[in-house]
Amino acid sequence: MVKKETVFVCSSCGNEFSKWAGQCSACGEWNSLKEVKSLGKPINGNRINKSLGGVREVKKVSEIEMKSESITNIISTEIKEFDRVLGKGIVQGSVTLFAGEPGIGKSTLLTQLVGKVGGLYVAGEESAEQIALRVRRLGLNAQGFDIFESNSVEEIEDYLNRVNNLYKIVVVDSIQVIGCDNATGTVGSVSQIKESTFRLVQLAKKLKVAMFIVGHVTKDGDIAGPKLLEHMVDTVLYFEGEKNGELRILRANKNRFGPTDEVGIFKMTDKGLLDVKSEDLNLVTDDTSKIGSAVTVLVEGTRPVMVEIQALVVESFAPMPKRVFAGVDFNRGQLLTAIAQKSLGMPLYKYDVFVSVTGGIKIDDTGADLAVLAAMWSSYKEKPLGQNPSQTLPLTGQGLKQNLPVFVGEVSLLGEVRKVKFWEKRKKEAEAMGKKLVEIKNVREIK
Ligand code: TYD
Ligand code: MG
Repeated sequence: MVKKETVFVCSSCGNEFSKWAGQCSACGEWNSLKEVKSLGKPINGNRINKSLGGVREVKKVSEIEMKSESITNIISTEIKEFDRVLGKGIVQGSVTLFAGEPGIGKSTLLTQLVGKVGGLYVAGEESAEQIALRVRRLGLNAQGFDIFESNSVEEIEDYLNRVNNLYKIVVVDSIQVIGCDNATGTVGSVSQIKESTFRLVQLAKKLKVAMFIVGHVTKDGDIAGPKLLEHMVDTVLYFEGEKNGELRILRANKNRFGPTDEVGIFKMTDKGLLDVKSEDLNLVTDDTSKIGSAVTVLVEGTRPVMVEIQALVVESFAPMPKRVFAGVDFNRGQLLTAIAQKSLGMPLYKYDVFVSVTGGIKIDDTGADLAVLAAMWSSYKEKPLGQNPSQTLPLTGQGLKQNLPVFVGEVSLLGEVRKVKFWEKRKKEAEAMGKKLVEIKNVREIK
């Protein structure tokens, strides 16, 4: 059989097909398949050699000189929480994907980084004036802060090659608006994003510059980029939080040079993102036990955080009762609702259930299960938790002032409560706040 010389490439998602079709079967876009010459081998094959300037040689480990600086050359971000997430700081020549939902504060934090350490900010989305305005408003050092307005990998390559070694840090904001000549598809399409990232990674390694590539993620967490790029880069950071809340959490999903179990916690203020100290992590300021409220201790990275979970369980008039969870995973919430119905005997099939977490924290910790159930139970029974009939403390407002119980535990399908990791740490945190962990074996004991 004669080998086909052309392939059809979707200009929207970048997938290749051997036959033409009216609709791309990968992304569903209509009329997006374009006929292009097949190169017979991956386009990247040649270019690696070219960009590194020469023919590849096999290297013997024994002959590879270990430059001690290549490992120890770590630059501090001068932002405490940022350093904590990275391990020690930024490793020279490393590439970091900085992902998060639009508007969460990616540009703000990276502007602060360049404003402290100095470097180049490649502005693909915003104008130089907008960024300069932010630099001044946040009171950052404008001296070492250079801005390069560009949407093209070739321009970035050209500029950085010319100013060889001028910058230690380069921020590219964002990969969704950076394109390169030899990839198919429009800027922002999968093929463009992949190719541009590949080229930027090559460039960073060659120039030994630490590069931060911003990538937007959608609400569902992937689409259009970051997930596809994780394997290409050294470090993947996710910046998350509720846009309306002030708390932001920086997590390392992958880290070739440091831990992945640490998180950085920031507060978005009018002066930009500020570090939040461990002592200030208590998000429960009210000491009264309220109807529909339960306190729990989460562990973010390695640090305990006390948060309040609120539930509203109200009779439903809809054919399908509503289930709304803010800060709690939807499937986990559904499961806990079912456990509440079975093990706590709450007739939730005729009740709407709303659950939310204070401080805009997204819970990714089964240790909060018990608190979610306790809050639902309290709302359903219209009774504050931890109410002790023999106690004669006066009711303050609608709540009860006394030692607030703290609910920590993973709940099984059968309603059994299990201890979770960092139990002792959570217990200590609760005690430090003058509260006690509730120790029960089954959700039926919630009171
Ligand atoms: P931004 O960094 O532009 O988000 P991203 O790059 O992730 O899309 O942040 C945008 C939001 O941050 C915007 O809603 C305003 C807010 N913000 C502050 O509250 N304080 C500040 O000092 C700055 C710079 C932004
Ligand atoms: Mg931005």
